[in-house]
Amino acid sequence: MWASAVLLVLLGSFGANALDNGLARTPPMGWLAWERFRCNVNCTADPKNCVSEKLFMEMADRLVEDGYKDAGYEYVNIDDCWMAKQRDANNKLYADPERFPSGIKGLADYIHSKGLKLGIYTAYGNFTCQGYPASGMHLELDAQTFAEWGVDMLKMDGCKQMDRHTMKKGYPQMTKYLNATGRPILFSCSWPDYERGAGIPINYTLVAENCNIWRNYVDIQDSWQSVLSIIDYYAKEQDTLVPVAGPGNFNDPDMLIIGDFSLSVEQAKAQMAMWAILAAPLLMSNDLRTITPEYRDILLNKDVIAISQDNAGIMGKRVLQKSDIDIWFRRLGEAWMTTYGLLFFNTDATSTKSVTVNMIELGASQTMGYGLTDAFDSSKNIWHIGASEDHTFTVKAGSVLLYTVYPSK
Ligand SMILES: *[C@@H]1O[C@H](CO)[C@@H](O)[C@H](O)[C@H]1NC(C)=O
Ligand SMILES: *[C@@H]1O[C@H](CO)[C@@H](O)[C@H](O)[C@H]1NC(C)=O
Ligand SMILES: *[C@@H]1O[C@H](CO)[C@@H](O)[C@H](O)[C@H]1NC(C)=O
Ligand SMILES: *[C@@H]1O[C@H](CO)[C@@H](O)[C@H](O)[C@H]1NC(C)=O
Repeated sequence: MWASAVLLVLLGSFGANALDNGLARTPPMGWLAWERFRCNVNCTADPKNCVSEKLFMEMADRLVEDGYKDAGYEYVNIDDCWMAKQRDANNKLYADPERFPSGIKGLADYIHSKGLKLGIYTAYGNFTCQGYPASGMHLELDAQTFAEWGVDMLKMDGCKQMDRHTMKKGYPQMTKYLNATGRPILFSCSWPDYERGAGIPINYTLVAENCNIWRNYVDIQDSWQSVLSIIDYYAKEQDTLVPVAGPGNFNDPDMLIIGDFSLSVEQAKAQMAMWAILAAPLLMSNDLRTITPEYRDILLNKDVIAISQDNAGIMGKRVLQKSDIDIWFRRLGEAWMTTYGLLFFNTDATSTKSVTVNMIELGASQTMGYGLTDAFDSSKNIWHIGASEDHTFTVKAGSVLLYTVYPSK
């Protein structure tokens, strides 16, 4: 027991004041419209892909019928461009009536009937990033409206709030209004990313007191370069970001683009594995109606999801860079039965590389040694290696090896 007490003390500096709404005890999993469907509002021209209730209902159906819900994906999240262009006579937001004929309440009922949860989007400032009405002057009313509709998660963006210094006040106000509704609503904040962009110091203690998840860095795009630049940011900032992550609070490197147009299967494995090591939200932005089985299998990989969803919620770190291979390590589970997620990422896009390491170098030192299970290929499981025994790991160009490391009995 003493070991868990030590762990609590170590995590206590943030844990004690973290946002207490009972949500995001592990990184949230679900689907978010933005990267794939953007602000496509012309349902005459593109009825299948426009931002409409039909799109969210169809994604909910796929989540349930194709195994995603069983794997843990539960949020169906609307992004920008759902609103009518004005507020109603009582100043309330409402959904565009042509694209959302059931209203958000009707959509929430449908999503809940499937055993899923609904996420919605607004912005701090007077307009959303795409110019729709936003919550700056109506935080309390909008929090109440979202709760009345049965919303379960809120992403609050902020590109049109040009005075980024006001965000340290505005986001915590929204946290209070959400809490006052009495409905637990997972709060996703874009605030630290805007402060970063404006060169304003980020107070992560304050962020963690007010947000369940938060964006630290720029929006992901459908490209491998974008994925790489995001990973690079998290590696460079890890000493700041790792201590603030924990149950109820997670850094958000943005959506999974697995199954979209740009990532190869190996690159898709790399994004999935890296997001699991980073204890990142797993919010897919793809078309679940047309995704091919090889990408679906990566999104449903149980071993990777088990690393992502580990109860201790400790964010992994890059621990070594050697022979063009970046090695990332994430501590899993309770302190007295520690297992690890271990990721080898070959950053050379053109050639296979090998690296020789032992577990002690990586930070695991149980004298009985370790067994390693390979998340993507069980034929590569390693039954036993001593803690100080050197082992050579070979990684394909631009790809990853992901292991769960268990102490030997
Ligand atoms: C509101 O905050 C209090 C105190 O932090 C917490 O106990 C409660 O669960 C919160 N309620 C909701 C609905 O978030
Ligand atoms: C939607 O697309 C159709 C067909 O391309 C076009 O005729 C129409 O003007 C568009 N509507 C709007 C509001 O842009
Ligand atoms: C939002 O609108 C209000 C009222 O029109 C105005 O006072 C305020 O300055 C605006 N805020 C921003 C960030 O533009
Ligand atoms: C950061 O926020 C915390 C919690 O609100 C506060 O106690 C602390 O003084 C802030 N730090 C700075 C440097 O402003």
